[in-house]
Amino acid sequence: MKSTVLVLGALASLATAQSLCDQYGYYAANNYYFNNNMWGKNSGSGSACTYVDRTSASGVAYHVQWQWSGGDNNVKAYPYSGKTLSNKKLVSQISSMPSSASWSYTGGNIRADVAYDLFTASNANHDTSSGDYELMIWLGKLGNVQPIGSQVATVNVAGQNWNLWDGYNGAMRVYSFVAPSGQMNSLSADIKQFFNYVSQNRGFPASSQYLITAQFGTEPFTGGPATFTVTNWSLDVN
Ligand SMILES: *[C@@H]1O[C@H](CO)[C@@H](O)[C@H](O)[C@H]1NC(C)=O
Repeated sequence: MKSTVLVLGALASLATAQSLCDQYGYYAANNYYFNNNMWGKNSGSGSACTYVDRTSASGVAYHVQWQWSGGDNNVKAYPYSGKTLSNKKLVSQISSMPSSASWSYTGGNIRADVAYDLFTASNANHDTSSGDYELMIWLGKLGNVQPIGSQVATVNVAGQNWNLWDGYNGAMRVYSFVAPSGQMNSLSADIKQFFNYVSQNRGFPASSQYLITAQFGTEPFTGGPATFTVTNWSLDVN
């Protein structure tokens, strides 16, 4: 009887998702990591929890439940999955970054983006919560939210059209590629091509900038209760 209880306990813990509800609740496995990252929570009121549904070397799945109000123009959180970058490379030394992402949203009054967030810095050991440059790829733009800076062009990268925004967050230059539909629920692409575009066209110094983070998640502003579900996200940096 006792051993049956132990076995059932082990099965239950395998089946239970990791629940990350603390401000910076963190979990890592199989060269991916997760952070509930409620960095801007004090600009409004609400909460978020990230639930890790699957980790494997070939991709991860997770979902996030959140609700936020107040501070309409402030990002409250960036719950995400990231790829562990064990030896940092200069962007010019990266040959490809094959990635796929599949996501969906349910809930009411959602004002949020769904985005890749890639930081680079001239110092490979720069603090990973910012960089000298930030490159975002907005697959989702739900509600009247917008990136930093202003829209400067519509461009074709990785076989898709994007509205390109360019601007500064303090001293950090931010490039944001926004899917015109605001609802690109899946992407399978070599995302190194976004860096190639900004190197060739927008003054990004690829040969002196290290890629320090590569993440995918959602930035809620206000709304909910909402559920953001990522059925698969994968990234390799070659
Ligand atoms: C996730 O995507 C990667 C890359 O396309 C693929 O190799 C992997 O099989 C996918 N995993 C699932 C569970 O769909």
